Amino acid sequence: VAKILCVANQKGGVGKTTTAVNLAVGFARSGAQVLLVDLDPQCNATTGLGHAPTARHPLVVDAPLADSVRETYHANLKLLPGSRSFQDVDLLARGEALQAAALREHLAGGLGSYDYVLVDSPPSLGPLTQTALAASTEVFMPIQCEYFAMEGLTQMIQVVRDVMKRHNSRLEFGGIVLTMYDPTLELTHEVDAEVRDFFGELVFDTVIPRDVAVCEAPSHGRAVLDYAPRSRGARAYLELCMEALGRD
Ligand SMILES: Nc1ncnc2c1ncn2[C@@H]1O[C@H](COP(=O)(O)OP(=O)(O)OP(=O)(O)O)[C@@H](O)[C@H]1O
Ligand SMILES: [Mg+2]
Repeated sequence: VAKILCVANQKGGVGKTTTAVNLAVGFARSGAQVLLVDLDPQCNATTGLGHAPTARHPLVVDAPLADSVRETYHANLKLLPGSRSFQDVDLLARGEALQAAALREHLAGGLGSYDYVLVDSPPSLGPLTQTALAASTEVFMPIQCEYFAMEGLTQMIQVVRDVMKRHNSRLEFGGIVLTMYDPTLELTHEVDAEVRDFFGELVFDTVIPRDVAVCEAPSHGRAVLDYAPRSRGARAYLELCMEALGRD
């Protein structure tokens, strides 16, 4: 595997899943072989692509990972579905150092043919997210332009640094993307300026606007890139994909 990108933010509903799904589709469209891994017990990435969650999480069952990989509606995009089993979440979360190594091995092993693996993580900085981070090469942080965005980001970055140190991992900061961007709000511009001032180059130029097409897409089992390709949301995600690929 060339790159394992973990999309993470402990805040709920900031656009992690939407970003993971659309980056996955965008990269696949550019010709790359992509695997989307759903680590969140909410299974939004799985259902958002029109799939059903599995009874047991593929990362904890005793079978080759490749057996659990599903085809999606896009030839270059495969899905490792999530599971709502709390027992499995617990298993995944426990003994993180070991799990991180196992997850990394899993991803590198049977899945060596992928150019990109995208991991959608739950809204927490708990063991499951840390395991995902430790197994990844880059972390992508979607944030919403709201008053507490900076606090959350700072906390998140501490956890990332801690994971880097403790697991001696190859994890790097992939970038910060501003989502559900509403330019009519004064606060949006304040937070935008503050985040860019503080994190500089790390912040993508592309911002993702608030767009109803984006929230309709999952109920059709499609990324917005396919559901409404001409929508503002889709165009923004396509631009984000280009910018992300350009950083490689
Ligand atoms: N750019 C956007 N415009 C409008 N709605 C959006 C946009 N991005 C995401 N949404 C909607 O906002 C909600 C939260 O987005 P999403 O599920 O991607 O966030 P999340 O960070 O993965 O949430 P969770 O923390 O629960 O996993 C969803 O209903 C989604 O469809
Ligand atoms: Mg999510």
